[in-house]
Amino acid sequence: MKLADIPVHAAAPADPLDGFRWPTDDFTRTPYRVFTDEAIYQREMERIFRGPVWNYLALEAEVPEPGSYKTVQIGNVPVVVSRNMQGEVTAFVNRCAHRGATVVRQEFGRAEGHACIYHQWNYDSSGDLCGVPYRRGLNGCGGYPKDFKPAEHGLQKLRVALYKGLVFGSFADEPPELLAYLGTNIVTHLDRIFVKPLKVLGYHRQRISANWKLYFENIKDPYHAGLLHTFMATFGVYRSTQKGHTLLSPGGGHAVVYSVTNTDSVESVVEAYQGTDNKYQTDFALQEPGLLQWSPDFHDGIGNLIVSVFPNMVVHQILNTFATRQVRPLGTGAMELYWTYFGFEDDAAERTAARLQQLNLVGPAGYISMEDGEAIRLVQQSITGESRDATSFIEMGGRGPIVDADHVVTEVCTRGLWQQYARTMGFAPEAAA
Ligand code: FES
Ligand SMILES: [Fe+2]
Repeated sequence: MKLADIPVHAAAPADPLDGFRWPTDDFTRTPYRVFTDEAIYQREMERIFRGPVWNYLALEAEVPEPGSYKTVQIGNVPVVVSRNMQGEVTAFVNRCAHRGATVVRQEFGRAEGHACIYHQWNYDSSGDLCGVPYRRGLNGCGGYPKDFKPAEHGLQKLRVALYKGLVFGSFADEPPELLAYLGTNIVTHLDRIFVKPLKVLGYHRQRISANWKLYFENIKDPYHAGLLHTFMATFGVYRSTQKGHTLLSPGGGHAVVYSVTNTDSVESVVEAYQGTDNKYQTDFALQEPGLLQWSPDFHDGIGNLIVSVFPNMVVHQILNTFATRQVRPLGTGAMELYWTYFGFEDDAAERTAARLQQLNLVGPAGYISMEDGEAIRLVQQSITGESRDATSFIEMGGRGPIVDADHVVTEVCTRGLWQQYARTMGFAPEAAA
Protein backbone atom coordinates (compact mmCIF):
# COMPACT_ATOMS: atom_id res chain seq x y z
CA MET A 1 0.00 0.00 0.00
CA LYS A 2 1.33 3.43 -0.91
CA LEU A 3 1.21 6.27 1.58
CA ALA A 4 -1.34 8.05 -0.64
CA ASP A 5 -3.73 5.10 -0.30
CA ILE A 6 -3.97 5.36 3.48
CA PRO A 7 -7.25 7.04 4.40
CA VAL A 8 -6.52 10.14 6.46
CA HIS A 9 -10.09 11.11 7.29
CA ALA A 10 -11.02 8.52 9.84
CA ALA A 11 -14.29 9.19 11.67
CA ALA A 12 -13.88 11.85 14.35
CA PRO A 13 -13.65 10.30 17.80
CA ALA A 14 -16.92 10.42 19.73
CA ASP A 15 -17.25 13.43 22.06
CA PRO A 16 -16.86 11.99 25.58
CA LEU A 17 -19.56 14.40 26.73
CA ASP A 18 -22.20 13.23 24.22
CA GLY A 19 -25.28 12.24 26.13
CA PHE A 20 -24.10 13.69 29.45
CA ARG A 21 -27.16 15.28 31.06
CA TRP A 22 -28.14 16.59 34.50
CA PRO A 23 -29.92 13.85 36.45
CA THR A 24 -32.80 16.04 37.72
CA ASP A 25 -34.87 18.77 36.06
CA ASP A 26 -34.84 20.99 39.15
CA PHE A 27 -31.07 20.73 39.71
CA THR A 28 -31.33 19.17 43.17
CA ARG A 29 -28.42 16.91 42.26
CA THR A 30 -25.03 17.80 40.79
CA PRO A 31 -22.83 15.09 39.27
CA TYR A 32 -19.41 15.21 40.97
CA ARG A 33 -17.90 14.52 37.58
CA VAL A 34 -18.24 18.22 36.68
CA PHE A 35 -15.55 19.05 39.25
CA THR A 36 -12.91 16.63 38.01
CA ASP A 37 -13.42 15.94 34.29
CA GLU A 38 -10.83 17.49 31.97
CA ALA A 39 -13.14 17.46 28.92
CA ILE A 40 -15.78 19.35 30.90
CA TYR A 41 -13.19 21.88 32.03
CA GLN A 42 -12.12 22.54 28.44
CA ARG A 43 -15.74 22.98 27.38
CA GLU A 44 -16.26 25.47 30.23
CA MET A 45 -13.36 27.60 29.02
CA GLU A 46 -14.90 27.72 25.55
CA ARG A 47 -18.63 27.85 26.15
CA ILE A 48 -18.71 29.83 29.38
CA PHE A 49 -15.70 32.13 29.78
CA ARG A 50 -15.23 32.68 26.03
CA GLY A 51 -18.96 32.39 25.39
CA PRO A 52 -21.98 34.70 25.58
CA VAL A 53 -21.36 35.96 29.12
CA TRP A 54 -20.04 39.11 30.75
CA ASN A 55 -16.92 38.39 32.79
CA TYR A 56 -15.95 40.73 35.60
CA LEU A 57 -12.56 42.29 34.75
CA ALA A 58 -11.70 44.98 37.31
CA LEU A 59 -12.82 48.20 38.95
CA GLU A 60 -12.52 51.37 36.90
CA ALA A 61 -10.74 52.82 39.94
CA GLU A 62 -7.91 50.34 39.31
CA VAL A 63 -7.17 51.92 35.91
CA PRO A 64 -7.72 55.57 36.85
CA GLU A 65 -5.58 57.45 34.31
CA PRO A 66 -4.78 57.26 30.60
CA GLY A 67 -2.28 54.43 30.21
CA SER A 68 -3.17 52.70 33.52
CA TYR A 69 -3.41 48.94 33.12
CA LYS A 70 -3.98 45.80 35.15
CA THR A 71 -3.43 42.17 34.20
CA VAL A 72 -6.21 39.70 35.05
CA GLN A 73 -7.32 36.21 34.06
CA ILE A 74 -10.61 35.29 32.44
CA GLY A 75 -11.19 31.55 32.42
CA ASN A 76 -7.72 30.33 31.44
CA VAL A 77 -6.93 33.36 29.27
CA PRO A 78 -4.58 36.16 30.41
CA VAL A 79 -6.17 39.54 29.79
CA VAL A 80 -5.04 43.16 30.15
CA VAL A 81 -7.52 45.82 31.22
CA SER A 82 -6.20 49.16 30.00
CA ARG A 83 -7.41 52.75 29.99
CA ASN A 84 -6.15 53.93 26.64
CA MET A 85 -4.59 57.33 26.02
CA GLN A 86 -8.01 58.62 24.93
CA GLY A 87 -9.39 57.70 28.36
CA GLU A 88 -11.56 54.73 27.31
CA VAL A 89 -11.40 51.42 29.16
CA THR A 90 -10.33 48.60 26.84
CA ALA A 91 -9.36 44.96 27.31
CA PHE A 92 -7.23 42.63 25.23
CA VAL A 93 -5.67 39.19 25.44
CA ASN A 94 -2.16 39.29 26.87
CA ARG A 95 -0.61 37.13 24.16
CA CYS A 96 1.58 38.56 21.43
CA ALA A 97 0.04 38.41 17.97
CA HIS A 98 3.45 37.39 16.60
CA ARG A 99 4.46 34.14 18.27
CA GLY A 100 2.49 34.15 21.45
CA ALA A 101 4.68 35.60 24.23
CA THR A 102 3.11 37.31 27.22
CA VAL A 103 3.33 41.01 26.39
CA VAL A 104 2.51 42.76 29.69
CA ARG A 105 4.46 41.17 32.53
CA GLN A 106 3.67 43.53 35.43
CA GLU A 107 0.51 43.12 37.45
CA PHE A 108 -0.25 46.88 37.37
CA GLY A 109 1.27 49.93 35.83
CA ARG A 110 0.96 52.91 33.57
CA ALA A 111 2.37 53.08 30.05
CA GLU A 112 1.55 54.68 26.72
CA GLY A 113 2.12 51.34 25.02
CA HIS A 114 3.41 47.80 25.49
CA ALA A 115 6.38 46.14 23.80
CA CYS A 116 6.78 42.38 23.58
CA ILE A 117 10.32 41.54 24.72
CA TYR A 118 10.73 38.64 22.29
CA HIS A 119 10.93 40.51 18.92
CA GLN A 120 9.83 43.97 20.03
CA TRP A 121 6.43 44.18 18.42
CA ASN A 122 4.92 47.35 19.86
CA TYR A 123 1.30 47.81 20.80
CA ASP A 124 -0.51 50.95 21.89
CA SER A 125 -2.60 51.23 25.04
CA SER A 126 -5.62 49.77 23.19
CA GLY A 127 -3.66 46.71 22.06
CA ASP A 128 -3.32 47.85 18.43
CA LEU A 129 -0.04 47.03 16.72
CA CYS A 130 1.89 50.22 16.04
CA GLY A 131 5.49 49.15 15.46
CA VAL A 132 7.30 46.11 14.00
CA PRO A 133 11.11 45.94 13.78
CA TYR A 134 12.60 45.06 10.35
CA ARG A 135 9.18 45.31 8.76
CA ARG A 136 10.76 46.17 5.39
CA GLY A 137 13.91 44.18 6.04
CA LEU A 138 17.52 45.32 6.40
CA ASN A 139 19.67 46.33 3.45
CA GLY A 140 17.13 44.85 1.08
CA CYS A 141 17.02 41.51 2.91
CA GLY A 142 14.24 39.92 4.85
CA GLY A 143 11.21 41.86 6.02
CA TYR A 144 7.55 41.00 5.92
CA PRO A 145 5.64 40.41 2.69
CA LYS A 146 4.20 43.54 1.07
CA ASP A 147 0.66 42.62 2.05
CA PHE A 148 1.49 42.62 5.77
CA LYS A 149 -0.96 44.98 7.47
CA PRO A 150 -0.29 45.92 11.13
CA ALA A 151 -3.99 46.68 11.59
CA GLU A 152 -4.67 42.95 11.14
CA HIS A 153 -2.20 41.90 13.84
CA GLY A 154 -3.25 43.68 16.99
CA LEU A 155 -3.90 41.92 20.29
CA GLN A 156 -7.24 40.13 20.43
CA LYS A 157 -9.82 42.47 21.93
CA LEU A 158 -12.69 41.81 24.26
CA ARG A 159 -15.92 43.75 24.19
CA VAL A 160 -16.10 45.97 27.25
CA ALA A 161 -19.08 47.31 29.19
CA LEU A 162 -19.03 49.50 32.28
CA TYR A 163 -21.54 49.77 35.08
CA LYS A 164 -21.11 52.04 38.11
CA GLY A 165 -17.34 51.68 38.15
CA LEU A 166 -17.30 47.93 37.42
CA VAL A 167 -15.63 46.79 34.20
CA PHE A 168 -16.98 43.73 32.39
CA GLY A 169 -15.58 42.01 29.30
CA SER A 170 -16.89 39.49 26.80
CA PHE A 171 -15.26 37.39 24.10
CA ALA A 172 -18.61 37.02 22.31
CA ASP A 173 -19.13 38.99 19.08
CA GLU A 174 -22.65 39.88 20.12
CA PRO A 175 -22.92 39.60 23.89
CA PRO A 176 -26.25 40.32 25.56
CA GLU A 177 -26.88 43.85 26.79
CA LEU A 178 -25.12 44.07 30.18
CA LEU A 179 -28.05 45.17 32.33
CA ALA A 180 -30.30 42.53 30.78
CA TYR A 181 -27.58 39.96 31.47
CA LEU A 182 -27.38 41.01 35.12
CA GLY A 183 -31.13 41.28 35.74
CA THR A 184 -33.07 43.50 38.12
CA ASN A 185 -32.11 41.87 41.41
CA ILE A 186 -28.40 42.18 40.72
CA VAL A 187 -28.59 45.72 39.37
CA THR A 188 -30.66 46.87 42.36
CA HIS A 189 -28.08 45.59 44.84
CA LEU A 190 -25.07 46.84 42.88
CA ASP A 191 -26.79 50.23 42.86
CA ARG A 192 -26.98 50.04 46.64
CA ILE A 193 -23.18 49.71 46.99
CA PHE A 194 -21.74 51.60 44.04
CA VAL A 195 -23.16 54.99 44.96
CA LYS A 196 -20.08 57.18 44.58
CA PRO A 197 -16.45 57.11 43.40
CA LEU A 198 -14.39 54.30 44.88
CA LYS A 199 -11.03 54.19 46.57
CA VAL A 200 -9.07 50.93 46.17
CA LEU A 201 -7.72 49.81 49.57
CA GLY A 202 -5.75 46.70 48.72
CA TYR A 203 -5.66 43.12 47.53
CA HIS A 204 -5.62 39.53 48.64
CA ARG A 205 -4.86 36.54 46.47
CA GLN A 206 -6.04 33.16 47.64
CA ARG A 207 -5.06 29.87 46.09
CA ILE A 208 -7.68 27.17 46.73
CA SER A 209 -7.22 23.48 45.95
CA ALA A 210 -10.68 22.99 44.55
CA ASN A 211 -12.60 23.38 41.32
CA TRP A 212 -13.79 26.93 40.61
CA LYS A 213 -17.46 25.87 40.64
CA LEU A 214 -17.20 24.57 44.18
CA TYR A 215 -16.40 28.14 45.17
CA PHE A 216 -19.33 29.48 43.19
CA GLU A 217 -21.61 26.92 44.87
CA ASN A 218 -20.28 28.00 48.25
CA ILE A 219 -20.83 31.72 47.71
CA LYS A 220 -24.44 31.13 46.68
CA ASP A 221 -25.25 29.01 49.71
CA PRO A 222 -26.17 31.18 52.71
CA TYR A 223 -27.08 28.25 54.89
CA HIS A 224 -23.50 27.08 55.37
CA ALA A 225 -22.41 30.52 56.60
CA GLY A 226 -23.98 30.43 60.05
CA LEU A 227 -22.64 26.90 60.61
CA LEU A 228 -19.17 26.80 59.08
CA HIS A 229 -18.27 30.34 60.12
CA THR A 230 -18.67 30.01 63.87
CA PHE A 231 -17.14 33.39 64.52
CA MET A 232 -19.82 35.05 62.37
CA ALA A 233 -22.60 33.28 64.22
CA THR A 234 -21.15 33.87 67.67
CA PHE A 235 -20.71 37.59 67.17
CA GLY A 236 -23.90 38.14 65.18
CA VAL A 237 -22.21 39.19 61.95
CA TYR A 238 -24.31 36.59 60.17
CA ARG A 239 -26.81 34.01 61.38
CA SER A 240 -29.49 32.09 59.53
CA THR A 241 -31.93 33.19 62.22
CA GLN A 242 -31.60 36.79 61.06
CA LYS A 243 -34.06 38.22 58.58
CA GLY A 244 -32.75 37.96 55.05
CA HIS A 245 -33.46 37.19 51.43
CA THR A 246 -32.10 35.05 48.63
CA LEU A 247 -32.78 36.53 45.21
CA LEU A 248 -31.99 35.17 41.76
CA SER A 249 -31.44 36.45 38.24
CA PRO A 250 -33.85 35.18 35.55
CA GLY A 251 -31.52 32.37 34.38
CA GLY A 252 -30.56 31.53 37.98
CA GLY A 253 -26.82 32.03 37.53
CA HIS A 254 -26.51 35.25 39.52
CA ALA A 255 -27.70 35.71 43.07
CA VAL A 256 -28.09 38.15 45.93
CA VAL A 257 -28.00 36.91 49.50
CA TYR A 258 -28.31 39.28 52.42
CA SER A 259 -29.12 39.34 56.10
CA VAL A 260 -30.23 42.13 58.41
CA THR A 261 -28.25 42.40 61.62
CA ASN A 262 -29.94 42.38 65.06
CA THR A 263 -33.15 40.82 63.82
CA ASP A 264 -32.98 37.62 65.87
CA SER A 265 -33.17 36.90 69.59
CA VAL A 266 -30.87 34.91 71.83
CA GLU A 267 -33.69 32.38 72.38
CA SER A 268 -34.24 31.82 68.66
CA VAL A 269 -30.53 31.38 68.10
CA VAL A 270 -30.03 28.94 70.95
CA GLU A 271 -32.96 26.88 69.66
CA ALA A 272 -31.74 26.97 66.05
CA TYR A 273 -28.25 25.84 66.98
CA GLN A 274 -29.38 22.87 69.07
CA GLY A 275 -27.74 19.74 67.72
CA THR A 276 -24.83 21.60 66.15
CA ASP A 277 -22.12 20.55 68.57
CA ASN A 278 -22.14 23.82 70.55
CA LYS A 279 -21.35 25.93 67.51
CA TYR A 280 -23.03 28.93 69.04
CA GLN A 281 -21.46 30.26 72.21
CA THR A 282 -23.31 32.97 74.12
CA ASP A 283 -20.52 33.78 76.55
CA PHE A 284 -17.70 34.67 74.17
CA ALA A 285 -16.39 38.24 73.93
CA LEU A 286 -13.64 39.90 71.93
CA GLN A 287 -10.64 41.43 73.67
CA GLU A 288 -10.51 43.99 70.85
CA PRO A 289 -14.16 44.93 70.17
CA GLY A 290 -13.05 47.55 67.63
CA LEU A 291 -12.76 44.74 65.10
CA LEU A 292 -16.52 44.48 64.90
CA GLN A 293 -17.55 48.05 65.50
CA TRP A 294 -19.95 48.77 62.71
CA SER A 295 -20.74 52.26 61.55
CA PRO A 296 -23.20 51.54 58.76
CA ASP A 297 -22.59 53.03 55.33
CA PHE A 298 -26.28 52.62 54.48
CA HIS A 299 -29.46 52.76 56.52
CA ASP A 300 -31.17 49.48 55.73
CA GLY A 301 -29.64 47.35 58.52
CA ILE A 302 -27.98 44.94 56.06
CA GLY A 303 -24.76 43.72 57.66
CA ASN A 304 -23.94 40.99 55.19
CA LEU A 305 -24.60 41.15 51.46
CA ILE A 306 -23.19 38.89 48.77
CA VAL A 307 -23.82 39.54 45.09
CA SER A 308 -22.53 36.83 42.76
CA VAL A 309 -22.53 37.11 38.98
CA PHE A 310 -21.93 34.06 36.79
CA PRO A 311 -19.29 33.10 35.89
CA ASN A 312 -16.58 34.94 37.84
CA MET A 313 -17.67 37.82 40.07
CA VAL A 314 -18.54 38.26 43.71
CA VAL A 315 -19.17 41.61 45.40
CA HIS A 316 -19.52 41.69 49.15
CA GLN A 317 -20.38 44.05 51.95
CA ILE A 318 -19.72 42.57 55.36
CA LEU A 319 -20.23 45.26 58.00
CA ASN A 320 -17.90 48.05 56.80
CA THR A 321 -15.83 45.98 54.37
CA PHE A 322 -16.40 45.98 50.63
CA ALA A 323 -14.61 43.85 48.05
CA THR A 324 -14.90 42.36 44.64
CA ARG A 325 -13.62 38.83 44.16
CA GLN A 326 -12.60 37.47 40.79
CA VAL A 327 -12.74 33.70 40.34
CA ARG A 328 -9.78 32.40 38.29
CA PRO A 329 -9.85 28.71 37.33
CA LEU A 330 -6.48 26.92 37.39
CA GLY A 331 -7.43 23.51 36.02
CA THR A 332 -10.01 21.06 37.30
CA GLY A 333 -8.70 20.94 40.86
CA ALA A 334 -7.43 24.43 41.66
CA MET A 335 -8.40 28.08 41.47
CA GLU A 336 -7.34 31.49 42.58
CA LEU A 337 -9.63 33.97 44.27
CA TYR A 338 -8.49 37.54 43.65
CA TRP A 339 -9.81 40.10 46.14
CA THR A 340 -9.93 43.86 45.58
CA TYR A 341 -10.94 45.77 48.71
CA PHE A 342 -12.42 49.19 48.35
CA GLY A 343 -14.01 52.08 50.18
CA PHE A 344 -15.14 55.44 48.89
CA GLU A 345 -13.06 58.34 47.71
CA ASP A 346 -14.66 60.67 50.26
CA ASP A 347 -14.06 58.37 53.26
CA ALA A 348 -12.44 60.11 56.23
CA ALA A 349 -9.11 58.64 57.38
CA GLU A 350 -10.74 56.98 60.44
CA ARG A 351 -13.29 55.21 58.24
CA THR A 352 -10.58 53.92 55.92
CA ALA A 353 -8.64 52.67 58.96
CA ALA A 354 -11.76 50.90 60.26
CA ARG A 355 -12.32 49.22 56.90
CA LEU A 356 -8.70 48.07 56.79
CA GLN A 357 -8.94 46.62 60.28
CA GLN A 358 -12.22 44.84 59.60
CA LEU A 359 -11.16 43.31 56.30
CA ASN A 360 -8.86 41.05 58.31
CA LEU A 361 -12.01 39.08 59.12
CA VAL A 362 -12.88 38.15 55.58
CA GLY A 363 -9.82 37.34 53.44
CA PRO A 364 -7.80 34.13 53.26
CA ALA A 365 -6.03 34.87 56.54
CA GLY A 366 -9.29 35.77 58.29
CA TYR A 367 -12.03 33.53 59.51
CA ILE A 368 -14.32 33.54 56.54
CA SER A 369 -12.50 32.73 53.35
CA MET A 370 -9.96 30.45 54.99
CA GLU A 371 -12.88 28.30 56.18
CA ASP A 372 -14.62 28.34 52.79
CA GLY A 373 -11.38 27.37 51.05
CA GLU A 374 -10.85 24.46 53.40
CA ALA A 375 -14.48 23.30 53.16
CA ILE A 376 -14.43 23.10 49.38
CA ARG A 377 -10.94 21.56 49.37
CA LEU A 378 -12.40 18.78 51.49
CA VAL A 379 -15.06 18.26 48.82
CA GLN A 380 -12.52 18.17 46.00
CA GLN A 381 -10.37 15.73 47.96
CA SER A 382 -13.15 13.24 48.53
CA ILE A 383 -14.77 13.29 45.08
CA THR A 384 -11.57 12.75 43.10
CA GLY A 385 -11.80 9.14 42.01
CA GLU A 386 -15.52 9.03 42.75
CA SER A 387 -17.77 6.98 40.47
CA ARG A 388 -18.96 9.00 37.48
CA ASP A 389 -22.60 8.78 38.52
CA ALA A 390 -22.28 10.02 42.11
CA THR A 391 -24.00 13.32 42.89
CA SER A 392 -24.42 15.86 45.65
CA PHE A 393 -27.79 16.44 47.36
CA ILE A 394 -29.20 19.97 47.18
CA GLU A 395 -32.65 20.07 48.77
CA MET A 396 -32.38 22.55 51.64
CA GLY A 397 -35.28 24.91 50.99
CA GLY A 398 -37.14 22.30 48.96
CA ARG A 399 -37.32 20.94 45.43
CA GLY A 400 -39.11 22.25 42.37
CA PRO A 401 -39.19 25.79 40.99
CA ILE A 402 -36.06 27.90 41.37
CA VAL A 403 -37.44 31.12 42.81
CA ASP A 404 -36.57 33.88 45.29
CA ALA A 405 -36.97 33.20 49.02
CA ASP A 406 -37.58 35.55 51.93
CA HIS A 407 -35.14 33.72 54.17
CA VAL A 408 -31.61 32.33 54.02
CA VAL A 409 -32.14 28.70 54.99
CA THR A 410 -31.99 27.48 51.44
CA GLU A 411 -29.82 26.14 48.65
CA VAL A 412 -32.04 27.54 45.92
CA CYS A 413 -29.32 29.87 44.57
CA THR A 414 -26.99 26.89 44.24
CA ARG A 415 -29.66 25.15 42.15
CA GLY A 416 -29.97 28.35 40.11
CA LEU A 417 -26.25 28.26 39.39
CA TRP A 418 -26.49 24.69 38.12
CA GLN A 419 -29.47 25.56 35.96
CA GLN A 420 -27.59 28.33 34.17
CA TYR A 421 -24.40 26.28 34.01
CA ALA A 422 -26.10 23.20 32.52
CA ARG A 423 -27.94 25.26 29.93
CA THR A 424 -24.76 27.09 28.89
CA MET A 425 -22.79 23.85 28.70
CA GLY A 426 -25.47 21.86 26.83
CA PHE A 427 -25.96 19.52 29.81
CA ALA A 428 -29.53 20.43 30.81
CA PRO A 429 -32.17 17.71 30.67
CA GLU A 430 -34.63 18.39 27.85
CA ALA A 431 -37.36 19.62 30.18
CA ALA A 432 -34.99 22.23 31.67
CA ALA A 433 -32.97 23.21 28.58
S1 FES B 1 6.45 36.86 20.22
FE1 FES B 1 6.09 38.94 20.58
S2 FES B 1 7.31 39.98 19.20
FE2 FES B 1 7.63 37.90 18.73
FE1 LIG C 1 -18.64 30.92 53.57
